[in-house]
Amino acid sequence: MTEIAQYVADHADDYVADLTALLKIPSISADSNHKGDMTKAAEWLKARFEAAGLSSEIVPTAGHPIVTAEWCEAEGAPTVMIYGHYDVQPPDPLDLWTTPPFEPDIRDGKIYARGATDDKGQMITHLFGVEAWLKTEGKLPVNVKFIIEGEEEVGSDNLDKYLEEHKETINCDVAVVSDTSQYAPGMPAITYGLRGITACEVTLRGPSKDLHSGMFGGTVANPLTGMSQLLSRLHDLEGRVQVPGFYEDVLELSPEEREEFASLPFNEQEFCEELGVESTFGEAGFTTIERRWARPTCELNGIFGGYSGEGPKTIVPSFCTAKISCRLVPNQNAEKILSQLEVFLRENLPAGLMMEFKTYHGCPAALVDRNSPYLAAARQAISTAFGTEPVLIREGGSIPVVGAFREILGIDTLLLGWGQDTDNLHSPDEHFDLGDFQRGIAASAELWKTLSGI
Ligand code: BES
Ligand code: ZN
Repeated sequence: MTEIAQYVADHADDYVADLTALLKIPSISADSNHKGDMTKAAEWLKARFEAAGLSSEIVPTAGHPIVTAEWCEAEGAPTVMIYGHYDVQPPDPLDLWTTPPFEPDIRDGKIYARGATDDKGQMITHLFGVEAWLKTEGKLPVNVKFIIEGEEEVGSDNLDKYLEEHKETINCDVAVVSDTSQYAPGMPAITYGLRGITACEVTLRGPSKDLHSGMFGGTVANPLTGMSQLLSRLHDLEGRVQVPGFYEDVLELSPEEREEFASLPFNEQEFCEELGVESTFGEAGFTTIERRWARPTCELNGIFGGYSGEGPKTIVPSFCTAKISCRLVPNQNAEKILSQLEVFLRENLPAGLMMEFKTYHGCPAALVDRNSPYLAAARQAISTAFGTEPVLIREGGSIPVVGAFREILGIDTLLLGWGQDTDNLHSPDEHFDLGDFQRGIAASAELWKTLSGI
């Protein structure tokens, strides 16, 4: 074992203690009540980067601050940007957590807390991987620049501005992101494709206030009925999206990719059991893995309006709102999809109602070069730390900044996920396996060496 690997092994308990401290800070970017916690998390990170031997800054933005940190004394060596996010999703519904989301609890070798895997636990592996070099060798074989943002879970709007404004000085060769998953326990992966996303909110308005359904029912259109009729037109019964043009730009999977996907071990029944469903469902003609990684979707995320409290209430509600998001695949354009969706909804708007359409964040899908020397270096580092070769996969989630790195900085991203699909990200009881955490740190420490040879 190298001195660095030994250092990483010797500090396993300290790493867990540090992660626990960070997980205790409820840095929920979507909730303005937690603005102070966002600053607290940023300050915690800055102090920890400095303790590791890097220079670090908190960069204010129009939203939540970005934390940067760097060590750039390896003259002539490649410069690696490491991206992660310290913001987390809201923890709701709280009553479904076994232990409170911001009181980290270790059970069965896993740490449970909001942000455990997405992304605090994964992101911080690189801080520790870098620190191991600085504390043992006093230097790194590559230059490193960390950019840790606080708005990933709400669309990364201000990060794009930061990258645009600093593109001359950032000057990196490749980006490293650990915010994805392994293929399965004991099967580490490098992700070469992510889906994009685009989101909106539709409100149908009827009467200016809720009305007595006996006095007025039957005289005006009901926004909930109208919304049900409208939304039911979005898909056919096999799950294919009915918005005209929705699939027209889709980059179809090559026969080779379909074969590769099919060669990965996948048990449909175990998949269903894990998700608590009787069977899978979705667009006909594609396997579950294909639909998940490489087919676009249009998903209803929430519908509200009318009365949903206890007991009956006889009203004609005044409005109904639906939140909709589409996952996009390579070649699809977020703005185009949203405008096609808006046109479709307006054309099918039931009589007697008014429609408002509000657009949210969007980002295109990402595909990275599978044959780059950087990917080969990552493969080698993961093989050493995990004791087995990683598989190449695509994933269905979105990381907006990956496209921005390519467009704004002209660099590729290495998506090196240490998590598992079963870690409950965005759900109650989110967790991160401490074995994966430790192997992630070991792989990070190894990566700086394998990347230095390029
Ligand atoms: N870490 C996830 C993305 C992810 C999860 C990628 C699993 C691959 C596998 C990330 O934090 C996330 O949730 N992103 C959001 C982005 C959106 C809010 C713009 C997403 O995918 O919903
Ligand atoms: Zn994430």
